Amino acid sequence: MLVNNSYLLKNAFEEKYAVGAFNANNLEQIQGIIEAAVEQRSPVILQASQGAIRYAGLEAIAAMILSMAKNTKIPISLHLDHGTSFEQNVKCLRAGFSSLMFDGSLLPFEENVRITKKIVEMAHPVDVSVEGELGRVAGTEDKFNEEQVKALLTQPEKAEEFVKLTGVDALAVAVGSIHRMRVQKAVLDIKRIRRIREVTSLPLVLHGSSGVTDDSLKKAIEAGICKINVATALNMAFTQGMASSLKNNPNEIDPRKILTVSREEVKKVVEQKIRIFGSHNKS
Ligand code: G3H
Ligand code: ZN
Repeated sequence: MLVNNSYLLKNAFEEKYAVGAFNANNLEQIQGIIEAAVEQRSPVILQASQGAIRYAGLEAIAAMILSMAKNTKIPISLHLDHGTSFEQNVKCLRAGFSSLMFDGSLLPFEENVRITKKIVEMAHPVDVSVEGELGRVAGTEDKFNEEQVKALLTQPEKAEEFVKLTGVDALAVAVGSIHRMRVQKAVLDIKRIRRIREVTSLPLVLHGSSGVTDDSLKKAIEAGICKINVATALNMAFTQGMASSLKNNPNEIDPRKILTVSREEVKKVVEQKIRIFGSHNKS
């Protein structure tokens, strides 16, 4: 069944667990994610980035996820990840997404507020939720040092103001993670998460979770993180599945046989994440 993020995150906020928001680019990744969530009886968010939309096509990726959500008993949300324009959000709303995001983290505060608020005003009347972002979660390609990452962290007072001015349903915060890390070694600023939760009383979103240690993830959930985005760990599992499949069967040419292994590897990682996030048996 298709639901919006607010519906999923309300319970997560009250019971202190996090719902996994898994990035999907193709059919096999979507299947692996949904199969894992069904087996774990976990609510789940499937999210498409603008890169995924360019790759698969907006209508196609929405159709795959929406049709599977309709035929599944667990609650599933279809969410736009890192929408960077108002127009992109309008297109996703029309394509049937149940949740949107505006990432204005590179914009001046006032401009970020202005566009996020406009998206909230468009989405709420049709029961679609909106995630905003304040502070900046960098990527490994930025090659920032610790000091530079620290300078981009979300300021709790600014977060409070942002939430009041925009009316967002969830807030993505910069608390020490970096997008696209392949090894889990980042440790989050737990105090900052706790403080932002206190002043916003909103479900908080962690981006760039693939590089965060399990211990820090658990502490972050306890402090107020309710939605955790995972992409790189799934891409690694998918690709490694493909590589091992081809290595073991060098003459195989049937993509279904090769990609079955990729799908299984994605499924395993999603199951592990769900158990760390504590969302199993919550659907
Ligand atoms: O928006 C997507 C994420 O923040 C995923 O980050 O690729 O580091 O897991 P990741
Ligand atoms: Zn992200």
